[in-house]
Amino acid sequence: MITNDVAQAVAAIESGKLCAIPTETVYGLAANALDESAVARVFAAKERPADHPLIVHVATTKDANDWITELPQWAIDLTAAVWPGPLTIVGPRTALASNSVTGGQETVAVRVPGHPIAHELLSQLKARGIKGLVAPSANRFGHVSPTSASHVLADLGEYLSAHDDLILDGGDCQVGLESTIVLATGPKPVILRPGAITSADIEQITGIAVSSQLANVPRVSGSLDSHYAPIAKVILLADETSEVTAVNSGFLALAQVPTPDGLVRLGSPATTDDFAHELYGCLRSGDDLKLEVIYVVPPTGEGLAQAINDRLQRAAF
Ligand code: TXA
Ligand code: MG
Repeated sequence: MITNDVAQAVAAIESGKLCAIPTETVYGLAANALDESAVARVFAAKERPADHPLIVHVATTKDANDWITELPQWAIDLTAAVWPGPLTIVGPRTALASNSVTGGQETVAVRVPGHPIAHELLSQLKARGIKGLVAPSANRFGHVSPTSASHVLADLGEYLSAHDDLILDGGDCQVGLESTIVLATGPKPVILRPGAITSADIEQITGIAVSSQLANVPRVSGSLDSHYAPIAKVILLADETSEVTAVNSGFLALAQVPTPDGLVRLGSPATTDDFAHELYGCLRSGDDLKLEVIYVVPPTGEGLAQAINDRLQRAAF
């Protein structure tokens, strides 16, 4: 069921199978975006509510035009600068984007992933007339996103093997956090989900101040209060001197932060980038060790640290 043969993945998608794919952010559970029954199985495999919209992944920036009718100039500049990369754009949908993909909304989310294997797969599919892949993170709904093929196997292996679906192994995901989602239906960029492309990046590229989250934004499942959560209870700490209960508990913090007495160290990332890269694997290893509590000292600051804090707050909710 696990392969590193792109041709095998092409054949699987063409025959209506699902294929978990590596991207630079997290692994996605991919299906042909125009195959309604395959798209329905993506929801079934994840146990994801049907009204939560999916991201369509395409090979090149130009291919986004198949799915989005028009974008403001700032969004054209943004995609030109960032794609292929960890950015998702939400724009008005074309007739190709079905209700099952968009959750019945008039907008569609599109992304050009930067991972070379994802790019190779999308290019080969495009040459065979397949215009895009839906790919939500390849985890059970609400659980921690997968950043390796073995994480996908742990969450969805039973379903995928029962249905003769595939996992395309492309190694560990470089970023480790899901893409930044930007709503591009108005005069200003609105960040719906923070990620590796930060508001400072967006302001620098577009020359426009990022607007704060609107009250009435479209549905973003990753913005549910409780999401990205391991089985263990996640408790956020200001620093290593905070009070902890040291029974069957883990600890994750930057390398310079010492481990409080009695806690199991789950990771010691050297930088904020490393923290993002290792975060989901550390949360999963806490569950593998059957820990009851995982204490985390989140990195501070702007940029990627904000995206890490966003995910950790939802994991801790
Ligand atoms: O990095 C990523 O974006 C990964 C990789 C696999 O590409 N994918 C991912 O997909 O995180 P998923 O389904 O776990 O999260 C996609 C998010 C959801 O929160 C969904 O609600 C939001 O995108 N979304 C999709 N279409 C939307 C739309 N039309 N309006 C607003 N949000 C939308
Ligand atoms: Mg997800």
